Amino acid sequence: MWEKMEEEKEILILAIESSCDETAAAVVRGGREVLSNIIYSQIELHTIYGGVVPEIASRKHIEKINQVVQTALDQAGKKLEDITAVAVTYGPGLVGPLLIGVSFAKALCFAGGLPLIGVHHIEGHISANYIEHRELEPPFACLVASGGHSHLVLVKDYGEYEVIGRTRDDAAGEAFDKVARAIGLGYPGGPKIDKISREGNPEAVNFPRAKVVESAYDFSFSGLKSAVLNYLNGCRMKGEEVNQADVAASFQKAVVDVLVEHSMAAVREYGFTKFAIAGGVASNSSLREAFVRACKEENITFYHPSPVFCTDNAAMIGVAGYYEYQKGVRHDFDLNAVPNLKLGERVRGI
Ligand code: KG4
Ligand code: ZN
Repeated sequence: MWEKMEEEKEILILAIESSCDETAAAVVRGGREVLSNIIYSQIELHTIYGGVVPEIASRKHIEKINQVVQTALDQAGKKLEDITAVAVTYGPGLVGPLLIGVSFAKALCFAGGLPLIGVHHIEGHISANYIEHRELEPPFACLVASGGHSHLVLVKDYGEYEVIGRTRDDAAGEAFDKVARAIGLGYPGGPKIDKISREGNPEAVNFPRAKVVESAYDFSFSGLKSAVLNYLNGCRMKGEEVNQADVAASFQKAVVDVLVEHSMAAVREYGFTKFAIAGGVASNSSLREAFVRACKEENITFYHPSPVFCTDNAAMIGVAGYYEYQKGVRHDFDLNAVPNLKLGERVRGI
């Protein structure tokens, strides 16, 4: 047993993430110990356009990936020869950016004679919870809220997921970004709304909390976004000044209320005693506070990653990659980027 644990400790995963606008690489030991976590964020580059420009993102990934991966190895004090396997995000995400990471990982594996493991980006986000909660094991329920996804997921086992709720239109992070732009805060909207909301009154404007009739766990945020836009237009037409902080706080409260209500309904219905959050929106301070309260009331243990592991990073891909590796998952060199990869689906690519 002791020998087995020592052996597992030495499993070193070099992970690469490039699905959107972060070029990231990490080295993870024994599944949960992060030896290095390098993130080159392109946010400043895309800010002037008000959102991510895929072509620009791809070009920057090409420029940066070599240096980011080398720095991850250096900071971990490891060489390619020490690495057990390379894990890389192969979907979902932007096809150009994904292709850079996948091609780079394949080249590394070819050169170093290493196994290649393609990882689902959302599986990575969920697995970020394992880094700082060494005691966390499936089964548990997880809300994944990011710029591209709002999923309620039952984590049945490592690598075994059931999506019971998803957004019908905009993702939660997307709504944050669009509303931030509309009230003049700019990109990226999530952190800016989070910050300014602390000075606003969340009860100032009563924005709608949308329900999807056919499913208690699905989300819809486009109606809320329209309600904010209508409110802003109304103010302009009446010549009233818009209080940015009040609108931000009221919008944020509407999103948080819906995310918490649906998540707690799922936890109750499925009888889970553990609940986790993941994805960029999971770093929202108001959302975290609301879940701390709700989980306490329901007597459920609440898990959340530190903000650096909520937004896109490669450490989470390394953790997910480790569990895939342990399950025997290996990809061939025909692995391709899959922009619309479904959670739980294993494909080689387009
Ligand atoms: O997980 P992530 O880094 O990338 C995707 O996989 O999409 O999530 C990015 C999203 C953006 O929409 C950003 O505005 C949102 O997460 N976000 C936040 C916060 N920090 C990032 N949303 C609300 N509050 C935050 N503090
Ligand atoms: Zn993400």
